[in-house]
Order: sequence, then structure tokens, then C-alpha cells
Amino acid sequence: MMSKLTQQEKDFLLKEAKEVRERAYVPYSHFKVGAALLAEDGTLHLGCNVENGTLSPTNCAERTALYRAIADGHAPRSFKAIAVTGNTDEPITPCGTCRQVLMELCGPHMPVIMTNSKGEVAESTVGALLPGAFVLPEDEEAR
Ligand code: THU
Repeated sequence: MMSKLTQQEKDFLLKEAKEVRERAYVPYSHFKVGAALLAEDGTLHLGCNVENGTLSPTNCAERTALYRAIADGHAPRSFKAIAVTGNTDEPITPCGTCRQVLMELCGPHMPVIMTNSKGEVAESTVGALLPGAFVLPEDEEAR
């Protein structure tokens, strides 16, 4: 059962996302994004976007955080929330590819907290951000 995210946890994730955003490697877009992922065990996993001159290997901040957590030994579906920040007019929303990865690794109910440099905050869930997501039959059975 997923425990509810406290305001303190939200504020913490937003602060951490803002800090890691500064480490983004973005020589092509010059658009920095930061992400902070909280695991159910309380550990924090940070990500920034990392671009590449051949463009397609570019990794978004959200996926950097998720892949780091998985590589550190965290199981899929053991995450509590993710916060994302970028300098957008409205609070930034994850790209389609990240939504699909969030669906598989975090499940539909996990909160996604989105903000921008103006400090505006929006909150959603993975499932609300990706209705009708593709799910492998064996994954569906595991849910
Ligand atoms: N980007 C992210 O890291 N996360 C998002 O939610 C949206 C887009 C990155 C990809 C690329 O490095 C830059 O932002 C511009 O698209």
C-alpha cells in the first residue's frame, strides 16, 4: 500500500530537484531539468538531463533518476514520488518516453510533482499523465 506524501517530503523533493538541475549537461538545448525520486525506504535518487551530440542518446532527468535508483538495487515499484523541475511557463511535465518508463517502474498511482523556475507547482500521478499506457500482459498480472 502506498503511503501518503507529506508536505515536508514534497518540499524536500522540490528543493533537491532544483539543486540537481544545475548539474544538467545541456550544450544543445540549454534547457536544464532536475528530478528527485523518493524511494519507499526513504532514500533519494537524483537525476538531471544529459544530452549528446548525436541527439538521440539524450537522457531526460526523470529517467536518469529512475535508472540510477534501479542500478543502486531498488526494485521496480518501490518508489514513493518523483519531483521534476525546469524553466517552463507552466510547471514542467514529463515527456512521453519518461511517462512510459514511469508507468513500468513506478506504477500508475505514484505522485508526480512538477514545478518551474517561478516556483509554481502542479501535482498529478503517473496514470493520469499516461492514460491508456502500454502494459505487457505479464506486468498486468503482477499488478
Ligand atoms: N527534458 C527532460 O529532461 N525532462 C522533461 O520532462 C522534458 C525534457 C530534457 C530533454 C532535453 O535534454 C531537454 O530537456 C530539452 O528537450
